[in-house]
Formats: sequence, C-alpha cells, structure tokens
Amino acid sequence: MQVETLRWRDGRLELIDQRRLPLEFEYVACADAVQTANAIRAMVVRGAPAIGCTAAYGVAVEAQRHAGAARAQFDSALEHAFKVLAASRPTAVNLFWAIARMREVHAQTRNESTQTAAESLLALARQIHGDDIGICRAIGRHGAPLIADGARIMTHCNAGALATAGHGTALGVIRSARDAGKRISVIANETRPYLQGARLTAWEMVQENIPVTLVTDNMAGHLMQQSRIDVIVVGADRIAANGDAANKIGTYTLAVLAERHRIPFYVAAPLSSIDSASADGSAIPIEERDAAEVTGFRGVRWAPEGVSVANPAFDITPAALITGLITEKGVINRPDASQIRGLFGR
Ligand code: MRU
Repeated sequence: MQVETLRWRDGRLELIDQRRLPLEFEYVACADAVQTANAIRAMVVRGAPAIGCTAAYGVAVEAQRHAGAARAQFDSALEHAFKVLAASRPTAVNLFWAIARMREVHAQTRNESTQTAAESLLALARQIHGDDIGICRAIGRHGAPLIADGARIMTHCNAGALATAGHGTALGVIRSARDAGKRISVIANETRPYLQGARLTAWEMVQENIPVTLVTDNMAGHLMQQSRIDVIVVGADRIAANGDAANKIGTYTLAVLAERHRIPFYVAAPLSSIDSASADGSAIPIEERDAAEVTGFRGVRWAPEGVSVANPAFDITPAALITGLITEKGVINRPDASQIRGLFGR
C-alpha cells in the first residue's frame, strides 16, 4: 500500500491524521494557512520533509482563498500565512526552506494578477511535494548498498513515508534494500514520549510485511551489546553546516552507543534538511514540547501532580559520531563542512 501522507483535493490540503494512527486511519482537511499551521503544531503531520510540503500547501491554500482579491489584500493574507506557518514548529528546517521558496514565487509574481500568482504558488507546492518522493527514492538508492543481506537495522522515531511525501528517508533506505532483494529486519525504537516508532514506524513496516521488532528506547544499549544490531539508520530534522544533525530525542544516545559497539550509524536526509546558516549543532533551536506528553498519554496520567518536567523533542548528534550522511546526491562518509559544501557544488 502506497501511503499518501498529504494530498491536494478539491482546493484543500488533506493530511493523514497521524495522531490517530495506528488505531484509526483518516484524513483531515486544511482550508487555510492557520488551520495548516495548527495541524503542524498539533502533529497531525510531522517529520521534516512532510512538514515542508505541508507548509508549502498551507501558503498555496491561503493564496487560493484570496485569488481574485485586490493585490494589497492578497499580499497581506500571504504575509500572515508565512508568519503563522513559520511559527508552527522550530526545529525542522524544511519548514523554513519551503516557506522561503514560496516567498520567492510570491515576490516574482508581484506584477501578475492575484489569480495568476495563486496558480504559480500552487504549482510550486505541487512541485515541492512531487520532488520529495523522487528525492526519497534517490536516498533509498544510495543507501541500500550500505545495508548487508540479512542486516538487522535499528531505527528511531519515524523517518518513513509518513514523515515525507512517500517512501521515507531512513525507511526509504530500508525499503530500497528490501526491494533490492535483501533479507532485512528492522528494530524500531518506541521513541518516547510521542511514540512515533511504536505507532508509525511499526505500522508502516507491518503494512509492508517488512519484519519488525518493537523495543522500548532503553533496550537499545543491551541489544547492541548482545550483537543484535548490525546498523543504525535515522532521519534528521536539521543538519548544520559542519554535519552535526538534529533528530528526534534519543538519537544522540544511540550514536554514542553505536560508537562504543562499533556499529555503523547513518543519517539519511534530503539536502532541504541541511541548514548552511547554522555553523554547528549548537545553533539549532530545540523544540520544547508540552509536559503532558511526558506525564501521561492520551488523557491517562501516571506522573504525580506538581512534578517538574523537561520535554526537549530533539537532540544533536555531533558529526564525529556519524558514519555517513545519505542524501539524494549520494553518501558522504564522516560528514564535515567541506563535504557538505560539496553537496551544494560550493
Ligand atoms: O517530532 P517529529 O515526529 O516531527 O520528529 C520527526 C523526526 O525526528 C524524524 O526523524 C525527522 O523529521 C526525519 S523525517 C524523514
């Protein structure tokens, strides 16, 4: 089954409601930029490339609403859209990358009718969406040769079809390895506190009959020590100019453990996740999420009232712990600033 994480239907954006997976599968519609920003914030849609595609459509949907309006009204509606979307989540740089691209087209079409401008904005959103699937397939193609036949692959969070326009980044590598005939199996970390591994990665793998074993995050070290993990592949939300990578909280722990146990540790991500403006990981903003995600789940509370809680949603894995960065342009081993510049032809 091909998962359509987001789609454009009847002049609206539709998103699989990932908060309800795997128990229920349904789409929610976003009819304007504010609804789209709220959907990103509430994690209806999540995962860096999917957030970027969604933001682009969020601008497009707002432009459609004001197509035909006077130029001043159109421009101020779009300015508001850029602002609310940019404020939805802070870490995944794909959000800001997509908004910047939409801003460019908005600027280029300033002398056109608002109807024409709205059409150009929708065309770009469709292109960002369409390109993302091809990019994930290219990541998969470059990453698959790194996976040995019979490999037991650990992954963290969900960097799959649900986190992208389709195929996935880390799970794209896994899917492509499977498609190449390799008999692989996946160890999916549950990924506390939001359970993207248990709810989403496990669901994607079960849907496709890729053998998957679900473990809680604190089992990872034990499994590595027992030689039950051959390779680790994760995604990224933002990669700094020197190769430091922000990804779901717990990724850094895995990278440290992987070095200790000499297990290759790969980050799979598109170029749109690279933020050349962040010199290193310390410049990457880390989202702090609601304490309720840690003190309970879906209305069930297990922690005592009055306890103080920390809930950073991402951590930084230093480039030195990354065996290779798998992108649509190929794999760079031991990423550093000069190799990363090379990916952009600089
Ligand atoms: O908080 P989330 O679910 O948006 O975090 C997602 C991740 O950390 C993913 O690993 C990352 O965005 C890569 S998705 C291809």
